[in-house]
Amino acid sequence: MFDILVKGGTLPDGRVADIAIKGDRIAEVAPDITAEAGETIDASGDLVSPPFVDPHFHMDATLSYGLPRLNASGTLLEGISLWGELRDLATVDEMVERGLRYCDWAVSMGLLAIRTHVDTTPDHLNTVTAMLELRDKVKDYLDLQLVAFPQDGLYRSATGRDNVLRALDMGVDVVGGIPHFERTMTDGAASLTDLCEIAAARGLPVDIHCDETDDPLSRHIETLAFETQRLGLQGRVAGSHLTSMHSMDNYYVSKLLPLIAEAEIAAIPNPLINIVLQGRHDTYPKRRGLTRVKEMQALGITVGWGQDCVLDPWYSLGTADMLDVAFMGMHVAQMTHPDEMARCFTMVTETNAQIIGLRDYGLLKGALASLVVLDATTPVDALRLRPARLAVVSKGRVVARSPRGDAGLSLPGRPDSVRRRR
Ligand code: FE2
Repeated sequence: MFDILVKGGTLPDGRVADIAIKGDRIAEVAPDITAEAGETIDASGDLVSPPFVDPHFHMDATLSYGLPRLNASGTLLEGISLWGELRDLATVDEMVERGLRYCDWAVSMGLLAIRTHVDTTPDHLNTVTAMLELRDKVKDYLDLQLVAFPQDGLYRSATGRDNVLRALDMGVDVVGGIPHFERTMTDGAASLTDLCEIAAARGLPVDIHCDETDDPLSRHIETLAFETQRLGLQGRVAGSHLTSMHSMDNYYVSKLLPLIAEAEIAAIPNPLINIVLQGRHDTYPKRRGLTRVKEMQALGITVGWGQDCVLDPWYSLGTADMLDVAFMGMHVAQMTHPDEMARCFTMVTETNAQIIGLRDYGLLKGALASLVVLDATTPVDALRLRPARLAVVSKGRVVARSPRGDAGLSLPGRPDSVRRRR
């Protein structure tokens, strides 16, 4: 007797299989499982996927759009400055409440694991207190991973470095940084050496906001690759954004990419945000500001898509749907071959799970029983439709359901409803 049986779904690799769940684990994945179950979900004709994963987010700022006022210029720098005011005004309770609301959205979209950068700049560390509380409150249904993120720079304030260490002591999981925002290139490089040494000493992963600028000479990713290898951190380091690579000299990039591959650094571009924030100083033609995704993947570098922001000082939209993120990434990176489109779906599921080191992930026997049933037939169709999440199961419990996206029609001689699947 199983607790839940998901019948007849199509898995992302095209197999049709039933998935049996007992407790918080997948007990079996096979065609035609006939045993009894407490609850049966009919997924015949629908896509069944492991849950979506977001490897880059800012939960402490989410759903604060318009507070304390709108970002009038739409730039990264005005966003940082607005957030600099808001983080001292927002209470711990407000940030927890906004985070809980966002996690409700995330669960409803089948997004069940999020790595979030937590600003460690203010000495009160209310952001850290709030996100630790939130991580605990949602842990039964959503995995929240916290990065100590010195938003204003490790060295630009007297307590910047101490506050990162305090946050890590409080239980934050990952070491973050922002080298291109330090006062000088030299300080930026030094911050990376420092942060990687802190991570090595504490046995922690590293995830750096790296070169989030249109400046082609912002080359901190090179230092990050060097320090990763020097300290033996291969496979534990991620470079988020890497937008300057869009504008770099091609010869330099041909030398840089093999260094990133050697260091086993994962890349996390954030296409919704990169396309909105980068190129703001350009006239025409305007740069896209997305890093070189296909070129990195061709060299075996792991690349995932991150969301970064929803309704906050930097981004005025967002729905907690990782398919929106992949959809934008696919367009901006021109990943239009069927294999590339399918890869965009994998990037927001399996690849992102691998980047943030999720354990027991995937649709296989013994893994955590977390999955999403989509109103679509294939991963590429899911990307095209960004469809309803018919059912979301997290750690063995059905946590969300949505109706199908069929529309009723009133047209002479035409069917009375339409489903926009291929
Ligand atoms: Fe970010």
